[in-house]
Amino acid sequence: MTLKQIEFPATIPDGVDVLDDEPGFVPSRHLQFEASQEVYRLGDFGYSDDEIARCPSDVAVAGPFRILSDEGASAMLDVSRRLKVFKQRSERASAMVRYPAYRSKFIRDLARSSEVAGFVGDQLEAELVPSALTGLALSHFNYAPDELGEAIDEWHHDIVGIDYVMAASDPRELDGGRFEFFTGTKAELSQMQAAGQGVPRDRVVAVEYPGPGWATVQQGNMVVHRAAPLNQAAERTSFLVCYQPGDIDLDETNKIRSYTTMDPAHIVYPEWARHKAWLARAKIDRLLEELPFTDDRGVLIAALEDVRSEIDVAIDDIRDESVNRLERYDG
Ligand SMILES: [Fe+2]
Repeated sequence: MTLKQIEFPATIPDGVDVLDDEPGFVPSRHLQFEASQEVYRLGDFGYSDDEIARCPSDVAVAGPFRILSDEGASAMLDVSRRLKVFKQRSERASAMVRYPAYRSKFIRDLARSSEVAGFVGDQLEAELVPSALTGLALSHFNYAPDELGEAIDEWHHDIVGIDYVMAASDPRELDGGRFEFFTGTKAELSQMQAAGQGVPRDRVVAVEYPGPGWATVQQGNMVVHRAAPLNQAAERTSFLVCYQPGDIDLDETNKIRSYTTMDPAHIVYPEWARHKAWLARAKIDRLLEELPFTDDRGVLIAALEDVRSEIDVAIDDIRDESVNRLERYDG
């Protein structure tokens, strides 16, 4: 069975302003797929077979690949410039826009396109479904900071499993500001940093995007990455879309507590309730299709507990009053 995309919320959360007069997203004109130029594997980074078996595939990073046509990239740049009025800071990134899929129908339709999800999934070698965290995770923009030398986004791994990072502005005109990733494990880098070493430059790949509308997909919870500082002031906008693996038996990779310092409770907890209810529904659907006639009561109990565990986790998290800061590597 296939995990079906979650329904988009019927209402936009209070306090989230929305664009009007937008260009429509037209897949036949705005999409132009070109496959990945490079693929990096978790095994080559040093991850164990056991760790890789718990991931949707062994692709760590794939890209750059093309998603948008020239016309699509131009529409994206226009929307990204209009959204910039909503920019805010976080503890890690100095200029970002949250919930663009709520604020912009163009972004919503692109981020929720099953055609794009299928193509990005081909690059990552896994079945992907657009994230059910429709505000928190589905889409996000980073912009150039106001002060030159300020980090665009520090070294970190993600609080989601899978995301693509697209150049929304023209990456060919930039001095610095590249998307970079470390070709080792999280544990290895943590150990280096505990020993007082920075991120070793000879183990870092800086992605060369051929143009706007090109992207790189990563298992962001496994790959340590950053957006490097700009050396010269420039328009530098990156656009991110997150996906959920189609395989509902993999571990949860979304870290809901890490949103608690960045986003308001009236968005964080309803989205977590929706996300977990969505996974539970997929597990109920599977149970109804596949549950055998058996006298092995353990099989029945395990299937029902598997459904219930999604809901139980959500309830515990929503009760929990603690906040979590984002994890980072300050080399
Ligand atoms: Fe990230």
